[in-house]
Amino acid sequence: MSSTETSAANVSSRPRRRLTIEEIAGIPVDALARKYGTPLFVYDAATIRDRAASLQHFEVVRYAQKANSNLAILALLRECGMLVDAVSAGEILRAQAAGYGFEGEIPPVVYTADVFDRDALELIARHNIHVNVGSPDMIAQLGAVNPGGSVTLRINPGFGHGHSRKTNTGGSQSKHGIWHEQIGECVRLADRHSLTITGLHMHIGSGVDFDHLSQVAGAMLSAAATINRPLKSISAGGGIPTPYRDTDQTIDLQRYYEIWNEARVKLAEEFGHAVVLELEPGRYPVAESGYLISEIRAIKQMGENLFYLVDAGFNNLARPAMYGAWHPISVCTSGSQAAGKLQPVIVGGPLCESGDIFTQAEGGVVERRELPAASVGDFLVIECAGAYGFTMSSNYNSKPLAAEVLVENGQDWLIRPRQSLESLFESEIIPGTT
Ligand code: LLP
Repeated sequence: MSSTETSAANVSSRPRRRLTIEEIAGIPVDALARKYGTPLFVYDAATIRDRAASLQHFEVVRYAQKANSNLAILALLRECGMLVDAVSAGEILRAQAAGYGFEGEIPPVVYTADVFDRDALELIARHNIHVNVGSPDMIAQLGAVNPGGSVTLRINPGFGHGHSRKTNTGGSQSKHGIWHEQIGECVRLADRHSLTITGLHMHIGSGVDFDHLSQVAGAMLSAAATINRPLKSISAGGGIPTPYRDTDQTIDLQRYYEIWNEARVKLAEEFGHAVVLELEPGRYPVAESGYLISEIRAIKQMGENLFYLVDAGFNNLARPAMYGAWHPISVCTSGSQAAGKLQPVIVGGPLCESGDIFTQAEGGVVERRELPAASVGDFLVIECAGAYGFTMSSNYNSKPLAAEVLVENGQDWLIRPRQSLESLFESEIIPGTT
């Protein structure tokens, strides 16, 4: 995350992090690692509940489950009162499995994407799921299978924002949303296909700058004027930042709310009826709850650089390799002889790939991090790994997906067992052998 990302959102910085860690939510790290093995994702339910409670100003909070879609996390956020966003057939079915229904004045599940794959379109038609349409073609495709359905339009206002070029979702270089100059055409298309436009949505990237946010809210008002019919909802999308570094600041949620609420009130006055304001955070409710525990398997000196090589890699947490994202790292040295003074180290994973480095900046520049001296067998914990961690993981190098554990009230619950080695290839077929 760049430090400018939250520059205008400064309120208070997070407490300084320690570089050693003994416990997660009251349970010793080494006990968790020994019980479930490593790499292991551990989520602290209290942090998730706390972040969910901090969003209570917003009438509707719709969790973007792409950040972390484990059923236990979905069920927890549902219990906290959040509705849910789905971007694929798989995410629709996950929402259903976690207890969400499809009926409601405010749709509990909304499908947001720029395309329908055939599986998703089929499920949407079967359950009459509300769609947040991201391209004109989707209107015709939905109209063909679910005439009478309701849609919101996801608008690309022509500008965007994001913590890296890869997470900026507005402007002409982004593939997301309906281009703002095509709104009129989409209204005509929706009419032709008997679809009702019930609202507008704008998600312009992950990260917040309040001047920019006011511009987005202004763009929402102009889009509403272009549509020129009464709308039931506006959605501010996601993008609420999470502090990853000690110097990142926590966001002023009150100010964030006020900017959007002002737009909502203006529209409600214009239409003469209530307009619902939705927020669609993914990262914020879950990022800080998550810890990726790994074991240090080798420590080697390579010229002037000291490497800690751990058993988690970008197959488990892709963000550093993909965006140069910075995650706090701490070491659990309990019982280790070497515990003690800080030294500059590079933290790498087990993959046969030079880019499998957790301490790197955008563009793949490898960086050293001051970490406590440690020994092989100690545990290294990558923090703030609850969002876009497990959900972006892969089987690269034929590594099984990690186990996931949720800790609540001092009790640890296995919410996904480690994938078995056999399952890595059990569905593959050698031609002529069946
Ligand atoms: N709504 C829509 C339509 C989105 O595309 C996204 C994120 C969100 C909500 C949630 O955004 P959030 O509150 O999490 O910033 N993998 C990247 C983030 C990609 C976000 C994609 N869309 C990362 O690890 O930073």
